Amino acid sequence: MEVRFAREKEDGRMAAVVHQRPPSTAEPPQRAHRISANPKQDARTKVLAALRTRALLTTLAAALLFLASASGAFAQECLSCHSDASMTDSAGHSIAVDGKKFSASIHGSLQCSSCHTDIKGYPHPEKIAPVQCQTCHADQQSALSGSVHAKSSQHPCTSCHGNAHEIFPKSDPRSAVYPLNVPKTCGACHSKDGVATKDGLPSVYPLYMDSIHGFALSKEGLLVAANCQSCHGSHGILRHTDPASPTFKANIPQTCGSCHAKIDVEYEQGIHGHALAMHNPKAPVCTDCHTAHAILQPTQAAFRMQSTPICGNCHQDKFSTYRDTFHSQLGSLGGYVETARCWDCHGAHDVRPASDPASLIAPANLVTTCGRCHAGANLKFVQYQPHANARDRKMNPGLYYVRLFMNLLLVSVLTFFLIHTILWLIRSRYEQVKSGKGGKNA
Ligand code: HEC
Ligand code: HEC
Ligand code: HEC
Ligand code: HEC
Ligand code: HEC
Ligand code: HEC
Ligand code: HEC
Ligand code: HEC
Ligand code: HEC
Ligand code: HEC
Ligand code: HEC
Repeated sequence: MEVRFAREKEDGRMAAVVHQRPPSTAEPPQRAHRISANPKQDARTKVLAALRTRALLTTLAAALLFLASASGAFAQECLSCHSDASMTDSAGHSIAVDGKKFSASIHGSLQCSSCHTDIKGYPHPEKIAPVQCQTCHADQQSALSGSVHAKSSQHPCTSCHGNAHEIFPKSDPRSAVYPLNVPKTCGACHSKDGVATKDGLPSVYPLYMDSIHGFALSKEGLLVAANCQSCHGSHGILRHTDPASPTFKANIPQTCGSCHAKIDVEYEQGIHGHALAMHNPKAPVCTDCHTAHAILQPTQAAFRMQSTPICGNCHQDKFSTYRDTFHSQLGSLGGYVETARCWDCHGAHDVRPASDPASLIAPANLVTTCGRCHAGANLKFVQYQPHANARDRKMNPGLYYVRLFMNLLLVSVLTFFLIHTILWLIRSRYEQVKSGKGGKNA
């Protein structure tokens, strides 16, 4: 017990007392030097001053020590039993408290009884009331009780903040809610075998960790990369079907835009942003094209391959005509080929109709747009129609007849060779039988 007590005194609060010393030692000699010009008297004054200072200091230190031990007495008293690491209650549940970690934590200056309000000493009351964090943190509690995590038995404060005796400020890397630690904290329930997935929610943690944000956070340690909290909030988390949620469809551009500000502006200027502002339910927001948790780097082949059909989901007619053109045929030869995707001609965020002079596909801008890849593109070159519809006789008569001719040619060539092959087979069988070498094993 003695040893443990001595060790406990080496905690954060003792260090604070030590820190207060230097200013008081530095002051008096300086003042003495200023008062006197006589070297003899000066020396005597110095000694006296030093003696006085030492006496003063000793008294001060003793007073401070007394204060420190008085304020820590209660915690020490509790810890005289509870710092035993092997201590368990009658049910076998650990009731050990690491005094060192507790005093280093944000609550280290509190008494044990600030939280355990009904325990004043030993023996303890028959029934111990649960700790109420909200007595000091009312805002967090009220936000939490209006959120998806309102059920307090399942979501006590400690479900996200970790061990109640080892809570650190959110800016401290040891905190469970430090930006780099948030995904793991939420992921404890929102991953494959987590509680949340048993409730039927998808396992989002692994998706997030493989995304550009997860990568930036976990591999590059980028504090400003989006973690769960950046998009969902912390205590007042709402379902994405709730119009007040930052993940509600209409609010998503603003949520992503809090970091990707310039893209949000471009998006809102474009036709998709306008459609959203007009409450068009079919308008795409950031997550329709990028997903919410599995966001890829847009220069990656996987993104370029999968996003063409994503634009195509909504623009099916343009997608099917694009598929007939050289650009797409090139892209579907198998494997990945660098070719023009929808947004290389239309832009990704500031998408505008051809009739808008600021559009990349406005007739006056096509030379520049195509010229990015086709050096020397001129007005004649851009006559080429990226969405030419060979099935539409009225719109594209030339193409229509060429397609018709090519298809007829293909069919007749195939038919000719089919007949040829059949005749050839019959003929060769006939020859075999005739030459007598035939029979069952021929
Ligand atoms: C003399 C040793 C001793 C001292 C001093 C002591 N405790 Fe305990 N405490 C125990 C024991 C033993 C138990 C387990 C009781 C049981 O088995 O139900 C316990 C249980 C507890 C529990 C409940 C744990 C549970 O089962 O959920 C809390 C909380 C607690 N103590 C807090 C304190 C606080 C705060 C102080 C200081 C004011 C303190 N204790 C001082 C011995 C002590
Ligand atoms: C910031 C508030 C807070 C402070 C300060 C605090 N505790 Fe706790 N303590 C809790 C919470 C929360 C629990 C979890 C059980 C509950 O919700 O009642 C807990 C649980 C315990 C338990 C039960 C074992 C366990 O870990 O579940 C013991 C024993 C205990 N505390 C002792 C202490 C002692 C000793 C101190 C002072 C050194 C102390 N506590 C200071 C909040 C606090
Ligand atoms: C669903 C997880 C979760 C739960 C449950 C939770 N917190 Fe938090 N808490 C967080 C996150 C994440 C942060 C960091 C917020 C940030 O970085 O801005 C945080 C931050 C805090 C802060 C710092 C100030 C602030 O609001 O940013 C306090 C204080 C706090 N929480 C107290 C509590 C209390 C008290 C409870 C229980 C009533 C609680 N928390 C429950 C996730 C949670
Ligand atoms: C007796 C009052 C009191 C109680 C009870 C209490 N706290 Fe605190 N808490 C404080 C004080 C004081 C601070 C430090 C001041 C500050 O920075 O907000 C603090 C800070 C925090 C922080 C860090 C805030 C930050 O800046 O990141 C978190 C997280 C936190 N408390 C969570 C809890 C949780 C969880 C509980 C319940 C287990 C709890 N508190 C119970 C008084 C209390
Ligand atoms: C202790 C486990 C646990 C932790 C930790 C946790 N959650 Fe949850 N979460 C759940 C459960 C369970 C639900 C389902 C609640 C319900 O539907 O009643 C849920 C629901 C949600 C939902 C709503 C899903 C929907 O649309 O229905 C979101 C969003 C969410 N959590 C995000 C988070 C974030 C972000 C964090 C970290 C800051 C987090 N959760 C931490 C267990 C947890
Ligand atoms: C870049 C922003 C962003 C980040 C980071 C993020 N989410 Fe989400 N999350 C969303 C959006 C937006 C939705 C709404 C549904 C959708 O669009 O797919 C969502 C939906 C959810 C849902 C409900 C899923 C459903 O289909 O009902 C859960 C649970 C969830 N997120 C948890 C988390 C957790 C846990 C993390 C961290 C590991 C996280 N989210 C990180 C933006 C984000
Ligand atoms: C908290 C700030 C933050 C929020 C909110 C955020 N992001 Fe990010 N995002 C970043 C940072 C930082 C990077 C850079 C990561 C890197 O380059 O390593 C990034 C990267 C990206 C990238 C890859 C960019 C590239 O050039 O490689 C895409 C795409 C992206 N975010 C989309 C989104 C979407 C969609 C949302 C909303 C659902 C969103 N982000 C919300 C901070 C954020
Ligand atoms: C209609 C689909 C679509 C929507 C809606 C969309 N994006 Fe994009 N985004 C893309 C495509 C396609 C790219 C790739 C552009 C490229 O490679 O030139 C991209 C690229 C990005 C990049 C990488 C940087 C860049 O400019 O190339 C970020 C970051 C990004 N988007 C964020 C967002 C955010 C934030 C929103 C919502 C405000 C959003 N996106 C809305 C399709 C979309
Ligand atoms: C979720 C569905 C959706 C997705 C995904 C989508 N769009 Fe759109 N797009 C729309 C809607 C809705 C409009 C607006 C129609 C209106 O208001 O007339 C629109 C308008 C346009 C227009 C203007 C021409 C017109 O018909 O009004 C172009 C060009 C366009 N989108 C290109 C793209 C490209 C390129 C992508 C992929 C990067 C894409 N879209 C992804 C739904 C979508
Ligand atoms: C090689 C450049 C190029 C590619 C690749 C391309 N487009 Fe286009 N797109 C154009 C041009 C030029 C026009 C205007 C002339 C026309 O309608 O044929 C256009 C027209 C459109 C329109 C109608 C715009 C309006 O104002 O009427 C939509 C919608 C559209 N494209 C969607 C897509 C989608 C979706 C993809 C990918 C599947 C795609 N485009 C691929 C160049 C391209
Ligand atoms: C992102 C780059 C890119 C953009 C933008 C682009 N193309 Fe292409 N295009 C290609 C590639 C790659 C090929 C195949 C290689 C080749 O033949 O040069 C190709 C091939 C072609 C071909 C057939 C082969 C040839 O060179 O004659 C035509 C015609 C064509 N593009 C027209 C256009 C027109 C018109 C535009 C603007 C509306 C455009 N392209 C925009 C990349 C692009």
